[in-house]
Amino acid sequence: MSKIGLFYGPEGGNVDKVAKIVAEKITTKKVEVHLVKETDAEKLKEYSNIIMGISTLGKHTWSSDNSGNDWDDFLPKLNGLDLKGKKIALFGLGDHIAYADFFVDSMGDLAEAIKPTGAEMIGQVSEEGYEFNESRAFVDGKFVGLPLDEDFESDLTEERVEKWLEVILPEFE
Ligand SMILES: Cc1cc2nc3c(=O)[nH]c(=O)nc-3n(C[C@H](O)[C@H](O)[C@H](O)COP(=O)(O)O)c2cc1C
Repeated sequence: MSKIGLFYGPEGGNVDKVAKIVAEKITTKKVEVHLVKETDAEKLKEYSNIIMGISTLGKHTWSSDNSGNDWDDFLPKLNGLDLKGKKIALFGLGDHIAYADFFVDSMGDLAEAIKPTGAEMIGQVSEEGYEFNESRAFVDGKFVGLPLDEDFESDLTEERVEKWLEVILPEFE
């Protein structure tokens, strides 16, 4: 049975909660879970199938402050990493009411950071069912991954995760 590497951060909040839901719902493959805060990006090389989960906490660039975001050390290390042949799916936590102009922006930033690695991005999601104004995660008419809003739409999370897994799991090797 092939395995999936699930990399996420931060710990203890909504990303953490959803990462556990995602891991629980995957029954056909082994899932190995890693906190990005405690993991070197090189670890990604051990997996062909990768899921990453991130939240948006209002940063505009990864280096714009040093607020101790869990992804601050991990993200720059993607630069120069060769992940060709690997498939990566993203989920992102955000708040579509208070941050309608920046909805799940960090998921978009993460996708940008992954681009140079040569990995194939899978699990893009249509805007259907989402309300927002602007999002850096909305590229070429689709979200780069699965947006989730535990602040205002937590009742939709399970269903959204299930539908998304139905799409990505068959694409994983
Ligand atoms: C300081 C702060 C800034 C935020 N900025 C954004 C934002 O720009 N875009 C967005 O969609 N959500 C934003 N949110 C909402 C969070 O992404 C959302 O609450 C998420 O579920 C937090 O997940 P976490 O607890 O795992 O970090 C912000 C929340 C906080 C507290």
